[in-house]
Amino acid sequence: MCAEVKRGLFITLEGPEGGGKTSQAKAAIEYLQSLGLKAVYSHEPGGTPLSEKIRALLIDPENNMAPLTELLLFEASRCQHVQEFILPHLQEGVFVVCDRFCDSSLAYQGARGLPLEWVRDLNNLCVKGCWPDLTLLLDVGYEAGRERLLRRYEGKAQSFDRIEREKRQFFESLRQNYLNMAQEDIERCGDPLQSRWRLVDAAKDFDSVKEQIRGHIKERLQRGGYLPAEHI
Ligand code: TYD
Repeated sequence: MCAEVKRGLFITLEGPEGGGKTSQAKAAIEYLQSLGLKAVYSHEPGGTPLSEKIRALLIDPENNMAPLTELLLFEASRCQHVQEFILPHLQEGVFVVCDRFCDSSLAYQGARGLPLEWVRDLNNLCVKGCWPDLTLLLDVGYEAGRERLLRRYEGKAQSFDRIEREKRQFFESLRQNYLNMAQEDIERCGDPLQSRWRLVDAAKDFDSVKEQIRGHIKERLQRGGYLPAEHI
């Protein structure tokens, strides 16, 4: 008889633009692998061949898009990603570290003024019960985030994608949406450790952010009984 495989943990990185999510997600994978755990990286929108095609539509500055069309495309991409990539990996005991997930829709499409119940309902439908076990909110203010974004594009703002071209007010609003979501969930849970949200100060330098993230992951692994004995 086969021993039952323990489901992998699902870890998401969220936050405004320029918080360094992608490099930190990759550093988190290295950390998990250094503990002998199997871990894969993914991102949204994207993560499967079809979802990547939808991503191309979403970020193309040539595409003029109604807010609801935008939401439906993000959710279509997510639906495929959960079904084809995230769930099968978790079921095989592999950890998935995902750069953005359903909370991005609540923060960003919420900032477009869409009713949050619509976003929540669509998230429920597409996520199929596959909610993150740990969500790291890489919080960074508008100025610092923009500076990093500009550095990524070597100072060329004309290379910004469709969403990066939005006005400051949009980014301030989505940052506040993230902070509210985290705070409300922590309050609802009573004990902050019971909430899946962890706030990370992403304005700090790379190594300090990496250390904050490692601390949160280690604590979650320990609590879930995933940390190998030699690392406790
Ligand atoms: P991406 O290049 O992945 O941006 P980043 O490096 O900031 O993660 O582009 C994804 C863009 O899509 C980003 O601006 C955030 C936005 N987005 C939403 O508006 N809603 C969503 O549900 C998701 C997943 C992303």
